[in-house]
Amino acid sequence: MEEVRTQVAIVGAGPAGLLLGHLLERAGVANVVLEHRSREYVEQRVRAGVIEYGVVNFLEEVGAGERLRREGLTHHGVELRFDHTTHRVALSDLADGKTITVYGQQELVKDLIALRLALGAPTRFEHEVVALEDLTGTTPVVRAKGPEGELRVECEFVAGCDGSFGVATRSIPGSTLRRHERTYPFAWLGILAEAAPTTEELIYARHERGFALYSMRSPTVSRLYLGVEPSETLEAWPDDRIWEELNLRLATESSPNVNEGPIMERSITAMRSVVCEPMRYGRLLVAGDAAHIVPPTGAKGMNLALGDIRVLARALVAQIREGDNRLLEAYSATCLERVWRAEEFSNYMTQMLHPSNDDFENGVQHARLRQVVASREAATVLARNYCDLNGL
Ligand code: PHB
Repeated sequence: MEEVRTQVAIVGAGPAGLLLGHLLERAGVANVVLEHRSREYVEQRVRAGVIEYGVVNFLEEVGAGERLRREGLTHHGVELRFDHTTHRVALSDLADGKTITVYGQQELVKDLIALRLALGAPTRFEHEVVALEDLTGTTPVVRAKGPEGELRVECEFVAGCDGSFGVATRSIPGSTLRRHERTYPFAWLGILAEAAPTTEELIYARHERGFALYSMRSPTVSRLYLGVEPSETLEAWPDDRIWEELNLRLATESSPNVNEGPIMERSITAMRSVVCEPMRYGRLLVAGDAAHIVPPTGAKGMNLALGDIRVLARALVAQIREGDNRLLEAYSATCLERVWRAEEFSNYMTQMLHPSNDDFENGVQHARLRQVVASREAATVLARNYCDLNGL
């Protein structure tokens, strides 16, 4: 068995774990990143694509935003489409000049891995963490299995950035952990297609047939979603049916068709809201999806994870470098205040845009949509939350 010692053991090489590793490296705090999957897998994994204004600035400040600035697509507005009419929400006019940037999560992951490897920071891909031990003692231990056998990591703190099904959250005893959860009666079927985006801005559409979202990744790649029943399977959705449905839900008189092209990737994702409290157990700190899930309608998942990491990195550096425990003591409460705001916004966007079987609910949805397009105040709240909820 191989044994290593470090200051912070980071479980998970998604955007959260990798950004934490990067910030700790910059502050001179030793860390090891352990990732169950291969480097190729995490670099190809198609996930979120919208980065908030403050998060973009933060990534740039910490030296991780160079390609993001160059290749990311800056958007000044989004479209809300309902009752066969499209309405533009002028994000940057309403939110003090703030914008959003469209940049695939896996691109950020590639950038952070490249930075890490250039510094020679220890990164163990294909290492499955099987147990976290002695979390309430002074020297926690992380046990992992890798291609060469077992690995034992002794550390001062463990950062659980391993998503909602990972070992980190499972290691918090049920008597400590409170889970607040809501599941929604729909899922998203997402595709990535080799097709030039039909429009320049994202379109969120509420159609009687269901929700649809038009997004993109580059001038030649579109990312589109359809709201479907949670029980749907990909087999039931051949390419023709997907495009037909997207056209039905997204079409307007002035733009009757979406650009079609070969589908490179497809998946169905259930929609859930989850908050786990507290985000700390002894020397284990959880961040990102390990601690909370938002439905994707507000595009907040990755932003929230990166927001947690900014708080966590500062807290760990203060504790480890200066022996100051105040930020770490406040970590969970500091994050949860922002997490609940993101939960509220994601729930609001989700409920407003997915038609229901319940007529009363549909009436409420229409009233909300009309309020956003008729009231500058309502649109301002949406724009500020959409562009910069994390306010980094
Ligand atoms: C995406 O581009 O993948 C995307 C955009 C907006 C969302 C969710 C996902 O709300």
